[in-house]
Amino acid sequence: MKRTIPFAMILGFIVAIYGCKESSQYEVEMNSETVSKTFDEQHRPQFHFSPPQQWMNDPNGMVFYDDEYHLFYQHYPDSNVWGPMHWGHAVSSDMVNWEHLPIGLYPDELGYIFSGSAVVDWNNTSGFGSGTEPPLVAIYTYHEPVRAKDQERVDIQYQGIAYSLDKGRTWTKYEGNPVLDSPGIRDFRDPKVMWYEEGKKWIMTLAVKDKISFYSSPDLKSWSFESDFGEGLGGHGGVWECPDLFKLPVTGADDEKWVLLVSINPGGPAGGSATQYFVGEFDGSTFSLDPSFAPEVIPVDGEEQAVWIDYGPDNYAGVTWSDIPESDGRRLFIGWMSNWKYAQVVPTTVWRSAMTIPRELRLHERAGSYRLSSKPVDEMQGIMDQPVDVFSEIQSELVLEDSLFALDLGGENLEGMQLTLSNNAGEFVSITLNNDHVLFDRSQSGITDFEESFAGSHSAPLEDLIPERVQVFVDLSSIEVFVNDGAVVMTELVFPIRPYNKISLEGNIDSAMMRTVSGIWNTKM
Ligand code: FRU
Repeated sequence: MKRTIPFAMILGFIVAIYGCKESSQYEVEMNSETVSKTFDEQHRPQFHFSPPQQWMNDPNGMVFYDDEYHLFYQHYPDSNVWGPMHWGHAVSSDMVNWEHLPIGLYPDELGYIFSGSAVVDWNNTSGFGSGTEPPLVAIYTYHEPVRAKDQERVDIQYQGIAYSLDKGRTWTKYEGNPVLDSPGIRDFRDPKVMWYEEGKKWIMTLAVKDKISFYSSPDLKSWSFESDFGEGLGGHGGVWECPDLFKLPVTGADDEKWVLLVSINPGGPAGGSATQYFVGEFDGSTFSLDPSFAPEVIPVDGEEQAVWIDYGPDNYAGVTWSDIPESDGRRLFIGWMSNWKYAQVVPTTVWRSAMTIPRELRLHERAGSYRLSSKPVDEMQGIMDQPVDVFSEIQSELVLEDSLFALDLGGENLEGMQLTLSNNAGEFVSITLNNDHVLFDRSQSGITDFEESFAGSHSAPLEDLIPERVQVFVDLSSIEVFVNDGAVVMTELVFPIRPYNKISLEGNIDSAMMRTVSGIWNTKM
């Protein structure tokens, strides 16, 4: 696919600055000097999405329309730390190769543009449509920064909407904003909206302090409160953010369940930010937890009882794409590959942060209950070379020429296995499967001194799983581990001073295949 960086992007930015109707006090001039033209800075991810320049956090407004996957993201175009939030924008035909587009939404007099979602309004319920094409409608949180500085103020966040009639290229904010005013709770944000066909209405899932509130609407403009969920359930070590609600078939069973994703910061199993989930039923008004998922049967993590989509420290605020066609039928997810503990101080330069590999979510009966799996989307195959058998070499030491690769290890039971990736600078990470956990140790992984807890090791419970397959995706500043097709996942940032080029393995395996992965930034044109 086309990947335009230098000229088209700069042109886009000029349009964004001068051609945008939404100019405001927060709008900043894009500085073409800081735009990456090469995407080859040290630590720049080569097969993960990252912004051309400056700060990025959560994925936003993920919607599929007219053969394009849209990815908006929390973005501050004037600095590589968090600031006045915009929605950056990119599109893709496969979620792997991306074309950067001009900023989608700018802050305005109602506030910064925080996280939210986007939908295709197929029936033009909003009336924003012009007749030929359905409007895309973005639903997001306004955060009012002046009021927010005053800790006594509770009316600082409310929801707004905007629509696009040109495939997401330009957006018009609704003149009736805000569409959902603050109830007097400071944390009132991150609307994820879906069409609930059974009740012919829109449902908004919203994070409110440390619980979820559901609202409904006939037209995306007027919203009514339905119910709350979450008190006394799951992790409450921090504020709840970026929820998502969707139905999934139970793999191998004639059944469906509703899944509620809830990011939480802090309070994650590896420290700081993480995403927990709940499985149950949703009746158009109320989410009720499946009895098998009740607090007494889900794992206890310290004082908290929660199940996590990813047990590594670096998968946060992830949600799923809206409007994936039924003929595809997948539930597709991407997360922000960082952690609020250190996101703003990681050792990167012209840009900060990347997204995870896009993942397909599935639901399985497991551990006496239900568990989500998340495996890399099949489209990743498009940038992966033919598999090479490295079974013999890896048992001593495999020395690599390529720094982007994916390993695929198989065996009847991989318990006891330890995989070490290292470089000539003596930096290394290890991934160990002991009898009931996966351990990821990044304490000697490279540059770690930017934050005290970064150098550490993390663990993920295997519960009732017998590990038979371990896939490891290695980019220049991240490692993602998928056990048994994503039944257990760990996503970890690493900053080696040079790429890991040696792999060794202890323990019993039956097969070891390696595939080199191509970079996605074809910028040398
Ligand atoms: C999650 C989050 C959201 C918020 C956004 C602000 O990382 O805190 O709750 O909308 O980031 O950038």
